[in-house]
Amino acid sequence: MTNRLVLLISGRGSNLQSILNACQSGQISSTEIVCVISNRAEAPGLAVAIQAGIPTQVIAHRDYASREDFDAALRRSIDAHHPDLVVLAGFMRQLTAAFVSHYLGRMVNIHPSLLPAFPGLHTHARALEKGVCWHGATVHFVTPELDAGPIIVQAAVPVLATDDPASLAARVLEAEHQIYPQALAAILSGRCRLEAGRVHWSTPLPGAEGTVVHPVLAAPA
Ligand code: GRF
Repeated sequence: MTNRLVLLISGRGSNLQSILNACQSGQISSTEIVCVISNRAEAPGLAVAIQAGIPTQVIAHRDYASREDFDAALRRSIDAHHPDLVVLAGFMRQLTAAFVSHYLGRMVNIHPSLLPAFPGLHTHARALEKGVCWHGATVHFVTPELDAGPIIVQAAVPVLATDDPASLAARVLEAEHQIYPQALAAILSGRCRLEAGRVHWSTPLPGAEGTVVHPVLAAPA
């Protein structure tokens, strides 16, 4: 049986592209992206989907009077596609608790920091400001509290003395493109699931359970 993914985006769509590549290469097997939904009509990621022949839909949050109304419309659209998993791929809207609860264990997000450090926005600038030596990305199940859901995989990257927010973001993004497909493959193949509020692995990813270190760090100097 083919797994069905609905992806939600707001912007560039590079994670969408990496997930699409993984579906096409078989890294994520027997899986189809059945729709890409954006809350912004101008999101460049929509073109990525169109180019790949994936149906797209724009549900503009500005067209709705309240967060609840927007989430209700979004939920109707998503559910019409009967997804196995809802994938937030650079979707920049906070979702209501009712919406999140409806998809509990069936909705994942990628966040550009090593959570629980730096939830919210401007993570790369904040990491540099704090002087952390390590930064990275986290894939997690979505729960009502922002960027606080159970962690599925993380990738760590070094922070270099020469970094500015853009260079650090680029290094983290490269790691995002590795771990999001890995996490989705694990969930869709049934190796990883949310159970009683915790991530349960039947077969861990290679390396430490649930943890991936960026290969740059594992490579000999
Ligand atoms: C990524 O850094 C993701 O972690 C964050 O927003 C960015 C989206 O990038 N949530 P893209 O649209 O996938 O290129």
